[in-house]
Amino acid sequence: MIVISADQLSKKFTVIRREKGLKGALSSLIHPEKITVNAVDNVSFKIEKGEIVGFIGPNGAGKSTTVKMMTGILHPTSGSVEINGLSPFKDRKKVVRELGVVFGQRTQLYWDLRLGESFELLKRIYQISDSMYKANMKQMDEVLGINEFIHIPVRQLSLGQRMRGELAAAMLHSPPVLFLDEPTIGLDVEGKHSIRKFIREINQRYGTTVILTTHDLDDVEQLCSRLIVINHGRIVEDGPLQDIAERMAPYRFLVLEIASPGIGIRHSLADTVRQNGNQVWLRFRKSEISASRLISDLCYSYPVLDLKIKEPDIEDMIRELYKLNDKTGSGVCN
Ligand SMILES: Nc1ncnc2c1ncn2[C@@H]1O[C@H](COP(=O)(O)OP(=O)(O)OP(=O)(O)O)[C@@H](O)[C@H]1O
Ligand SMILES: [Mg+2]
Repeated sequence: MIVISADQLSKKFTVIRREKGLKGALSSLIHPEKITVNAVDNVSFKIEKGEIVGFIGPNGAGKSTTVKMMTGILHPTSGSVEINGLSPFKDRKKVVRELGVVFGQRTQLYWDLRLGESFELLKRIYQISDSMYKANMKQMDEVLGINEFIHIPVRQLSLGQRMRGELAAAMLHSPPVLFLDEPTIGLDVEGKHSIRKFIREINQRYGTTVILTTHDLDDVEQLCSRLIVINHGRIVEDGPLQDIAERMAPYRFLVLEIASPGIGIRHSLADTVRQNGNQVWLRFRKSEISASRLISDLCYSYPVLDLKIKEPDIEDMIRELYKLNDKTGSGVCN
């Protein structure tokens, strides 16, 4: 069942080009030069119920702008988006019931109220029944431990406590779709862990569809069944992380420790890429030979003492992917 459908979604911003230095700033004031930024450029995708989709891409790629269009905060310049068949912009009142939204860099809570008072207010805004409110609050406490700090004014919460509060607030009306824009930004290891646990739990328990933008690849590896990579406003990859990794980095490495350093290791389906004393690095393609076959061939022919398999580093791969697509254009036109 398709929950979110974006069709050739685009957003252009017109901004004034600022020249460097005081002279430039003055000249921009007198003769403002307008440029158009293609923040999101013809983006199409469909998201099924229950998916956890990671939106990743370098700074300024267009992730938040896409999320803002999906949640009705921004109107697309062209193209369309639908959430459960509703337009986030035209059917705003109905759509808010379908959505929970968290922007990691901004609070949606009431700064001067105690966290619990913010929840009470949201209960009224969303007309949440007493029984649903009670059940949801119980669950939020079980997973996010919010009762510990529910009596503290939002402005006095630590970042980790506030983020837990933000998530609870976004899920209070049990929306089927949750948008999270950098929910783990600035959190310590424990904070990130509890946010990820919560996301997994609501996804499994209620089948909540989650769209998550992040720069944290651990979020992606631990949570996302699918990855949409966006750069210069365009989708450059869409699929499971494993598939993207296989295409981008089809190699694996076998690191052997051998009994005597002088032995030259050879195999017809693997390249020896490094030999350092007793340690030998072999590179092989998953599609050509399995690790177990390669290990058994080598152990049969050579005095192998120990071994380990190394997968390509996901962070290196993503960095390469961003660099690769940097050559495609700047996303800015005059
Ligand atoms: N309100 C705005 N007015 C003008 N330009 C904007 C506006 N919002 C975003 N942009 C521009 O649109 C582009 C995409 O921005 P966006 O915030 O969507 O990126 P992002 O992928 O979320 O980046 P980050 O990882 O830094 O959060 C950038 O070039 C940004 O400067
Ligand atoms: Mg952003």
